[in-house]
Amino acid sequence: MLYIGIDLGTSAVKLLLVDEKGNILNTVTKEYPLIFPKDGWSEQNPADWWEGTMSALSEITEDIDKSLIKGIGVAGQMHGLVILDENDEVIRPAILWNDGRTEKEVEYLNNIIGKEKLSQYTANIAFAGFTGPKILWVKENEPENFKKIRKIMLPKDYINYKLTGVHACDYSDASGMLLLDVKNRCWSKEMLGICSVTEDMMPRLFESSEVIGEVKEEFGFPCAKVVAGAGDNAAAAIGTGTVGNGKCNISLGTSGTVFISSESFGVDSFNALHSFCHADGNFHLMGCMLSAASCNKWFSEEILKENDFLELQKDITEEMLGNNSIYFLPYLMGERSPINDTDARGVFLGLSLDTKREDMLLAVLEGVSFAIRDSFEVAKSLGLNIEESCLCGGGAKSPLWRKILSNILGIKLNILKTEQGPGFGGAVLSMVGTGEYSTVKEACEALTEISEVITPDERLASLYEERYNKYKQIYPALKGVFKNIR
Ligand code: XUL
Repeated sequence: MLYIGIDLGTSAVKLLLVDEKGNILNTVTKEYPLIFPKDGWSEQNPADWWEGTMSALSEITEDIDKSLIKGIGVAGQMHGLVILDENDEVIRPAILWNDGRTEKEVEYLNNIIGKEKLSQYTANIAFAGFTGPKILWVKENEPENFKKIRKIMLPKDYINYKLTGVHACDYSDASGMLLLDVKNRCWSKEMLGICSVTEDMMPRLFESSEVIGEVKEEFGFPCAKVVAGAGDNAAAAIGTGTVGNGKCNISLGTSGTVFISSESFGVDSFNALHSFCHADGNFHLMGCMLSAASCNKWFSEEILKENDFLELQKDITEEMLGNNSIYFLPYLMGERSPINDTDARGVFLGLSLDTKREDMLLAVLEGVSFAIRDSFEVAKSLGLNIEESCLCGGGAKSPLWRKILSNILGIKLNILKTEQGPGFGGAVLSMVGTGEYSTVKEACEALTEISEVITPDERLASLYEERYNKYKQIYPALKGVFKNIR
């Protein structure tokens, strides 16, 4: 039997055709535009997601009997607000996870409603990218659109809705809305009230591997069941076998995340890390930085006008590692974890007349890794002892970046044999939902395998320790400036 995993990402949708042993038989990727209507705003058209998914679906199944497809699992970019009217038409473009327009709403939620209450209702505080503040933004700024809302959903749930006609959401993705009572796995009546929405607008909740329905007849997959799927980070964690207590997965994708799985519910008392449901029925803590591999993409493509990232990185020599005098703050879209600052922006510091482009490129790779370490430090301060982590996402394809990150964090990084992140996780969830495996954990054990381990080097790790201590001084010194120059 065959399974399809769909990763509805920010730059593209990627489909994987997988057999029950986890072999990837085919992949198809379709890109779509990302729209920045204003500085710090970020939107996409759900119609582009759907068109990309449909075209990839027909391409990936063109040479096979569609009745062999037994399950489909979608993983998606989290937090995006998709709103539908009474005719099931999308009301306005989706406001994405890395959109920073809700500063006022976040201020209202965190300071007027209060962080304590938010944390009590949802296990989290408000961040600009979360869905709840966006609903309040639409209410305040687009009252005509707000009145039309009949259904609220997240990006991957729009795909599931179009595929099955079922308005569903899984707990991992729902956790990022600031509307879910994470501990009790149900909508928070208090938060729905605060955001002026009613429960009938919200999707029905499922565990990630639960079947929500069948693919509509018109699409021609007679045996395919669709599972609820997961937010992309929870799905990536499944795809790397990050389930159970205290396991860690780091994703160097468009965003950068540190994901720590847990068998019990827990909250970061500083609220710097998110406390969310996991796709295996348990929980996780997560730090999310808004621009990770996207910093490298931006600097390489937009600034250096080069598309071959690995080729470009060849100019960075071994001797340069740990000795760079240039620093880079990766806050190109503001930042979420752990600083929660929508005003912050990217910065190069320490430039001189002999600075070369490879010094700046290295500073970008290092700056992103230092920012990942910031979230890592929060996890350590909570008493979590992480000695190794899986690594996934586009940035993980760079051997140089893996080495820098391993030395900056001072831990071993495990690279998986099937490095397909969220899409693979989606496929695994669909295998569980359709009975191929009885639990998510069992499927992870059978389907994930480490192929390479990156080990930190004592000398380099100590050079990077010094540099991290310098890096840490930059943001606090600029915090006020960021606010004043916007
Ligand atoms: C997680 C987050 C991002 C998106 C990226 O909280 O906002 O990782 O899910 O797709």
